[in-house]
Amino acid sequence: MSSGNESCLFENGSVSFFSCLVHVWEAGLGQLQDYLSFLEYLLWVFTPLAIVFILPFLIVIFLYLSILFLHVYKRKNQLREAYSNNLWDGARKTLAILWDGHGAIWHGYEIHGLEKIPDEGPALVVYYHGAIPIDYYYFLASVIIQKGRTCHSVADHFLFNVPGFKLLLEVFSVIHGPQEECVKALRSGHLLGISPGGVREALFSDETYPLFWGKRKGFAQVAIDSKVPVIPMFTQNLREGFRSLGTLRFYRWAYERFRLPIAPIYGGFPVKFRTYLGDPIPYDPKLNASELAEKVQQAVQALIDKHQKIPGNILRALVERFQRERKED
Ligand SMILES: *[C@@H]1O[C@H](CO)[C@@H](O)[C@H](O)[C@H]1NC(C)=O
Repeated sequence: MSSGNESCLFENGSVSFFSCLVHVWEAGLGQLQDYLSFLEYLLWVFTPLAIVFILPFLIVIFLYLSILFLHVYKRKNQLREAYSNNLWDGARKTLAILWDGHGAIWHGYEIHGLEKIPDEGPALVVYYHGAIPIDYYYFLASVIIQKGRTCHSVADHFLFNVPGFKLLLEVFSVIHGPQEECVKALRSGHLLGISPGGVREALFSDETYPLFWGKRKGFAQVAIDSKVPVIPMFTQNLREGFRSLGTLRFYRWAYERFRLPIAPIYGGFPVKFRTYLGDPIPYDPKLNASELAEKVQQAVQALIDKHQKIPGNILRALVERFQRERKED
């Protein structure tokens, strides 16, 4: 860049104004080009980044659209409410079909072993928690569509504080899970889904798929108290679809210290999702809660070992999405 200016000064002793101008112009143009290509470079680096941080928000938007639908539905059906106690069946089915469609289109979603979910009567479904448990939403949709049942769910407290979520949680029978409530749901013959790892697993597990259950055994106590079988569940490539930056120390600290679930989540990649349901672990009066908790954890771990290549790889999971054949169980 400096060569342009030097030739202005030393060109055969006589400085030609025009050639100087041209040189300066060229130099300036060169700089502008450098600048532009630098911008282009930044854009190239950050566009994918922006997209992968925006895509998870689409799920949130999709959730709010579902809620909007529920409100419209409620208004439209207010008159009928007095006469029908299954007012929400239609709404649940409609939303189930929408979410099921989303899963099919975006992730080529498959569910293996749905026949292990009983057609009637209670069972406790215990699953590995992804950064966004979108596989669990798809699972709920499949159960509604194929079994005609609404699987109740246990969710973290913070979900009940998200503005606008109340109706959605109500319609889909989501509880925040004191043990008595869980037992009550199971004793009345419902299916119930729970993830013992919860928010901690969502934020701090990674592409090696470690479980974060600690010494938790409340869920096992619930299964024992209500004498129901436990069905383990795991979704292949879940962490390749959405990842969290929870491995950064700060977020772990913020969560353990203040219960702030704030680790950023990125992803939204259209990777292959396959949900696997394991064999039911029948109620066994000889097992205490710690033993059952251990047994269930081993069952979920066995599903991970069998169906997940570790460490997970986003590219490989994407390729699997576009390989056509349905994988055998
Ligand atoms: C559960 O059973 C195991 C082995 O039988 C025993 O070591 C443990 O103390 C029991 N736990 C409780 C809470 O009773």
